[in-house]
Amino acid sequence: MRHLISPMDFSVEELDELLNLATDIENNPNKYKDACKGKKIATLFYEPSTRTRLSFEAAMINLGGNVLGFSSSASSSVAKGESVSDTIKMISCYADICAMRHPKEGAPLVASTKSSIPVINAGDGGHQHPTQTLTDLMTIKSLKGRLDNLTIGLCGDLKFGRTVHSLINALVRYTNIKFVLISPSELRIPSYIREEVLEGNNVPYKEVTHMEDALPDLDILYMTRVQKERFFNEAEYIRLKDSYILDNEKMTLASKDMLVLHPLPRVNEISVEVDEDPRAVYFKQVQYGVYVRMALILTLLDIHIN
Ligand code: CP
Repeated sequence: MRHLISPMDFSVEELDELLNLATDIENNPNKYKDACKGKKIATLFYEPSTRTRLSFEAAMINLGGNVLGFSSSASSSVAKGESVSDTIKMISCYADICAMRHPKEGAPLVASTKSSIPVINAGDGGHQHPTQTLTDLMTIKSLKGRLDNLTIGLCGDLKFGRTVHSLINALVRYTNIKFVLISPSELRIPSYIREEVLEGNNVPYKEVTHMEDALPDLDILYMTRVQKERFFNEAEYIRLKDSYILDNEKMTLASKDMLVLHPLPRVNEISVEVDEDPRAVYFKQVQYGVYVRMALILTLLDIHIN
């Protein structure tokens, strides 16, 4: 039995297979409509979500399966003090696979050690968000045609943004990837990612504070919101929350084929006027998230459709 806790749980070859499966699902949805008939996914969300929870549920429904779960800890027995370990033992009796989001880093990993069904990390604190990474990889591969030879700007809250941490972990394994890390000094990428993941893999990167300096050189601009829920000090959040606002004027500095991605939700780091720019692909990215989660469910349940 396999789980997905970190993007590193899949080799590059396995990621390629999964992305190819997701593309086949995109092109031939009818072929997969009964693939999970009789199967159930449990979505265990101890933190708010719109996209991740609903895209897992849409993915399972598209595969002919069913869904159950909770969308906040307040509406589950965790409010009475039940542990993650006990919860997952129950869920293993009710469902065939589960997706868990939790505010504590490592909670889905703990759950996976007690589970008799595959556990998918749907976001753990400020740590990792591997299924967002699968979504991001499919978006880049589908729209750019490659995952090699890319200069990628990551902009915003690089300290707490778990999507950024997972994406860097996944992309350092491809050829000729360069990163431009755009953040205020208070929200720099954590030192363990700089030292172990980037420098440890000899991946070139530079850190800048001005988005305008980076834009002309980028193939991909990955915007993120400042993660209000991870701050201990509200005044600090308010001071930093509008550090970067991408608008049409700044987009004139970028190349005509740079793509703008964002894991969403957006607050105001991308002006709505940018939505009309053909380079803004963050809503397409949401659709890719459903295909890639369908592929992931099939892969972890070891279901093969010819
Ligand atoms: N991208 C993402 O994780 O969105 P949600 O928080 O809405 O699930």
